[in-house]
Amino acid sequence: MDITTPPIAPEAGPALADAAPTPHEPPVIRREDYRPFPWLVPEVRLDFTLGLTHTLVEAQLTVQRNARADRAETIRLNGDGLAPLGVLVDGAPVDWHMDGGDCIVPLRGETHLITITTAIDPSANTQLMGLYASNGMLCTQCEAEGFRRITFFPDRPDVLSVYRVRMCGDKAAFPVLLCNGNKIAEGDNGDGTHWAEWHDPWPKPSYLFALVAGDLVANSRPFTTCSGRVVTCNIWVRKEDLARTDHALESLHRAMKWDEEVFGREYDLDLYNIVAVSDFNMGAMENKGLNIFNTKYVLADPDTATDADFDAVEGVIAHEYFHNWSGNRVTCRDWFQLSLKEGFTVLRDQLFSQDMRGEAVKRIEDVRILRAAQFPEDAGPLAHPIRPDSYREISNFYTATVYNKGAEVIRMMRSMVGEARFRAGCDLYFARHDGEAATCEEFVKAIEDGAGIDLSRFRLWYSQAGTPRVAVSQEVEGDRLRLTLRQSVPPTPGQPHKQPMPIPLRLAVHSRRGALGEERLIVLEEAEQSFDLPLAGPDPVVSINRGFTAPVIIERTLAREDLVFLAAHDDDPFARSEALQELAVAHLVGVASGTLAPDEQAAGEAAIIAAFASSLADNALDDAMRGELLLLPSETYLFEAMAVGERKADPGAIHAAREGLKAAIGAALGGELRALHARASAVAREDPAGRGARKVKTIALGLIAAADPAAAAALAAAQYDAADNMTDRQGALMVLAGLDCPEREGRLADFYARYRDNALVVDKWFSLQALSLHPQVIDHVRALAEHPDFTLRNPNRVRALHMAFAGNPKAFHAPSGEGYRIIADVILALDPINPQTAARFVPALGRWQRIEPGRAALMRAELERIMAAGKLSRDTFEQVSRSLEG
Ligand code: TRP
Ligand code: ZN
Repeated sequence: MDITTPPIAPEAGPALADAAPTPHEPPVIRREDYRPFPWLVPEVRLDFTLGLTHTLVEAQLTVQRNARADRAETIRLNGDGLAPLGVLVDGAPVDWHMDGGDCIVPLRGETHLITITTAIDPSANTQLMGLYASNGMLCTQCEAEGFRRITFFPDRPDVLSVYRVRMCGDKAAFPVLLCNGNKIAEGDNGDGTHWAEWHDPWPKPSYLFALVAGDLVANSRPFTTCSGRVVTCNIWVRKEDLARTDHALESLHRAMKWDEEVFGREYDLDLYNIVAVSDFNMGAMENKGLNIFNTKYVLADPDTATDADFDAVEGVIAHEYFHNWSGNRVTCRDWFQLSLKEGFTVLRDQLFSQDMRGEAVKRIEDVRILRAAQFPEDAGPLAHPIRPDSYREISNFYTATVYNKGAEVIRMMRSMVGEARFRAGCDLYFARHDGEAATCEEFVKAIEDGAGIDLSRFRLWYSQAGTPRVAVSQEVEGDRLRLTLRQSVPPTPGQPHKQPMPIPLRLAVHSRRGALGEERLIVLEEAEQSFDLPLAGPDPVVSINRGFTAPVIIERTLAREDLVFLAAHDDDPFARSEALQELAVAHLVGVASGTLAPDEQAAGEAAIIAAFASSLADNALDDAMRGELLLLPSETYLFEAMAVGERKADPGAIHAAREGLKAAIGAALGGELRALHARASAVAREDPAGRGARKVKTIALGLIAAADPAAAAALAAAQYDAADNMTDRQGALMVLAGLDCPEREGRLADFYARYRDNALVVDKWFSLQALSLHPQVIDHVRALAEHPDFTLRNPNRVRALHMAFAGNPKAFHAPSGEGYRIIADVILALDPINPQTAARFVPALGRWQRIEPGRAALMRAELERIMAAGKLSRDTFEQVSRSLEG
C-alpha cells in the first residue's frame, strides 16, 4: 500500500493572475538569473556541542575569491531562523549585518577565515529541516536548503567544500556520533561527555552534510569492491529494530555490486553508514557516506512488512546508493538542475530493480506510478518541465515530474542509442564532470558526444511541460502498412505553444490471424509523419509504445477484437497488459460519460471478462504477471482519460463504473477466482512461487468482494486468521476494512493490538481504514484523527491517515465536499508545524479544473479558504496560488 499523489482535474476561472502581489508574497527565483558565487569555500570546519534543546555550532569557513565570478566586497551567508552569536574575519570582529535571514559579511582581501557561532534548539524543529530531534536522537536533513538552519553558509549546490567536523555530546544520550566520511579521532572528556572528529575527503555541497547522534546499534557486513577495497557497511537503528535490518543490508550489497557491473561505478570511501529515523519528510537522503532514511525504507521482516514493502526498501536503498555517483560525485549546479541527479538516479534504481526481480512486472508498475502521479501533475495547474524555469520554494519541485518523468526522458535516450552506447555516454558524463556541479545541458551533451547521437531537438523534453499525445491512424497499401502519427503537446501554465519533440516508439505489426511481426524502433520527429511498415499477415494489429518507450498518451480507437488479441497474444508482456488497460479505459470512460449504447456496454464488459478469463487460465503466465493483468486502471488514471478537451472528469461516475465492472468480473468468474484463491493459499511462504501467489490471492479477494461481499468476508477472515506474513494479513484486512460485515471490527482490533508498538504497522492500520471502500470512511477518518496514536508531528502518520484518504477517490470526492474540507483543514493545521509536508496535500485540491463543475467549485472554495487564512508558509503559498491560477 503506497502513498502516491492523489487524483483530480480542471475548468477555467480567473483568480489571482491579475491581483496585486500581497506584501508577504515570497520572491520568485529564476533559472536565467543564475550567477556563479563570488567566493569559493574550499574548507569548512564545524564544531558541534550537542544537546536536544541546545546545540552550539562554531563554523570556520576558509574562503577565497572565485576567479570565474564577478568581484564582490561582501559575502552573503544564507541563514534561516538563525542569529549569529559572533562573527569574526581572520580572528577579528567585523561590521556584518543581516538581510532577511542572511548574514552579510564584508570581505576585502583575496582569502579569509570566517568564524561564526550559532545556537539552535533541535527539539523545537518541527519542520524536520536542519538539525532536529527524533525519538531522543539528533539528526539532520539539509537538502535542499536545511543547512542554513544549522549555520550561516553559502547554501547552494555549486559551492563545494571539504568538511572536518568535531562533535561533542553526552555519552549516555548519544553513545554513537556519526558524520560524513571517516572517523579520524575520538575521545572521552571524563565528565560524562565524549567527542568524535570526522573528515570527508570528497568536496561536497552543504546539502550533502549530515550528522547523527544517538543510542543506536548497527547491523554491519563488509563489502569488497571490484578493486579490492573493503567497505564497512552499517545499518544503524534502535536496538529493538536490529532484527529487521538484514534485507536493507543485503539490498545495499546488491546495489553496490550492480553499479560496478552495469555502470562501472565503484564506491569511494571505506565506510558506508545508513541511519533509520522515524520522523522524516521524505523517503531517504543520500548524504555522502551517511545516508539518513525514513524507517519505512529500512525495516522489513515478513511479519511486519509486505512484499511491496520489501521491494520499496530495496529500491530506495539502491536509489540513495546510486546517488553517490549521480548526485554526489557529480552534483547539481543549481536547484533547477534537480532532475540531473533525480531523474538519472530514478532510472538507475528502476533498471536495478528490473534486473533483481524481472523486467516486465517492474516496468508495468513504474508506468502505473507515472500515470497515477505524473500525468495528472502534467495536466494540471502545477505542471512544470523536468527542468523548471522558476520557483518560490524548491521543496515543491521534488515532484513526480522531476523524478519519474525525468527518468523516462533519460530512458528514451537509452532506447534510441541502445545499452552499450548509452553506457559510453554515461562514462563520458562521469569522466567529464567528476567533482563538479553540472547542468542537465551538460548531461545531454555528454550523452550526445559519448553515444554519438544528435539530441538537438530532443532537448525540448527538458524545457516543455505537458504529456504529448500521439494520434495513430493506419492504412494498408499492398503488402505494407502505412502508419501515420500526429503529435501534439498540450498547453501548460506559462507555455501556450509547444514544438514537436522526438518521440521514440518501439512497435510491431502483428496479424490478427496469429503471425507476430518483428519489433522495430521508430522516432517520430515531426508534428505529423508516416511510416511504411511490412505486414506479417492479414488483419494487421499495431502493437505500439511497447515497453513504454515514450511517456506519451497514445490516442487511437482499436477494434475490441484487436485489443483482445493483443491482450492474449502479444509477445511483449508490457504490451499485453497495455492492451487490457486500453480495453478497460475505453469501456469505463464510455460507461462513466454515458456515451455507450446498452449493447456496446454489454459487449465491452464481455470482452474484458473474456480477457480476464484467459489471464486466469493461461498456464504460461507466472502469478506476478497474472496479477498485473487482473488489475483495472486506477481511478486517477481514468479521470485523466475522461477529462479530455471540454469534457470534465466525474469522480462519482468513474467510481461507479469501475466498481460495477469489478462486480461483473467477480460474478462471471467467481468460480475461477475462488479456485485461484485456494490454489494460491496452498503455496507456502518460503516457496519461490510464494510471492506471486500472495499477490494474486488478494487481487482475487478484491474482485470476489465486489460481487459477493459475504463470501469475500468469510474468505478474507480466513486468510487473515491463517496469515503467517504481512502481505496476506494486510491484503485480507484491506478487503475486510471495505466491507460492512461482522468480520471487520474484530480483525481491525486484533491487528492494532498485535502491532500497537510498531509505528510502521500502526501506520498501515491507519492507511487501511482511510483507503477503504467502506461507506463510512469519512467518519472513520474523523475519528482516527482523534485517536491517541495520531499526531501531526510525525509525517509518516499524517501520510498514513490523510494522504491515504486524499488518495481514496470515492471518499475524497464525496459530493458533500467533506473530503475536500478534511484535507484543507489538515493543510491549515500542518502548515505552521511542517510546511513541506503540508504543501504536499495541495495538489489533491489543485486539480479542480478538470473535475465536473459541482465538485470543482467545492475544491476551489477550499483553496480560497486556505489562501484567505494568511500567514502561509512559502511552500503552501506557492502551491495554493498556482493551483488557483491554473
Ligand atoms: N534527495 C533525496 C532523494 O531523492 C530527496 C530528499 C530527501 C529530500 N529528503 C528531502 C528532498 C527533504 C527535499 C527535502 O533521494
Ligand atoms: Zn534521489
